[in-house]
Amino acid sequence: MHILGIVGSMRKNRYTNLLVNSVIDEIKALAPESSSEIIYAADQNVAPCQVVCSKFCSENPYRCVKPDFAAELLETMIKADIIIIGTPQYFRGAPSGFHTLVEKLIAIFFNYETGGSGTVESPLKNKPCGLVGVAEYSNPHQMLEYLNDFCCLLKMEPVRLEKFPYLGVSGQGDVTKDQTFKPFERSKDLAAAIIQKIQSQKSLSTDTQSIKPSS
Ligand SMILES: Cc1cc2nc3c(=O)[nH]c(=O)nc-3n(C[C@H](O)[C@H](O)[C@H](O)COP(=O)(O)O)c2cc1C
Repeated sequence: MHILGIVGSMRKNRYTNLLVNSVIDEIKALAPESSSEIIYAADQNVAPCQVVCSKFCSENPYRCVKPDFAAELLETMIKADIIIIGTPQYFRGAPSGFHTLVEKLIAIFFNYETGGSGTVESPLKNKPCGLVGVAEYSNPHQMLEYLNDFCCLLKMEPVRLEKFPYLGVSGQGDVTKDQTFKPFERSKDLAAAIIQKIQSQKSLSTDTQSIKPSS
């Protein structure tokens, strides 16, 4: 299994990176044969969606008229078996360097579905993903909701937890000491839930293949 981590922070070695890696490490502990890679939004310089060119992505499934790193990221996401995606809160929202990526990907999917025929299924349909949200003085749940919405628009499947905060792993302030959101305990829970999701998707597809059409 290949795990893709996406870190939305502009600081590559801070709390968002720590928590995204914590979930990846917990998945690897359960599935030691897995490989992983991390993509940092801080390394990219993607221009915002230009919007006026939407005819192109409405008519060309999951393509942008000006392919840049967002198109490359989409290809990498398609190849991954699991995606762990994390963002901090900067000035009430996601860092703009990360949001330009999110905006481009949403545009590619949304315009094709609403402005085009929408007949080609999302190449990310049912892709299991784990969400990580980080903040300091605000509630990090806001960032989990933002990421959850992003995943739903791309037809991916954010894996939920049975415990608070339910939508994924979140951390507030110094995440190594956070006793409210308990990010390291929730990382373990999320890893286990993701592995369970992969197993149930596999057994469902085996069951579906074994059903023979009646003559
Ligand atoms: C530019 C900037 C803006 C921020 N704005 C907010 C904010 O609106 N709400 C909040 O709770 N924390 C805010 N923070 C704190 C960050 O969410 C917190 O430091 C978090 O750990 C950042 O993630 P990182 O460690 O991965 O960079 C801000 C931090 C920075 C650098």
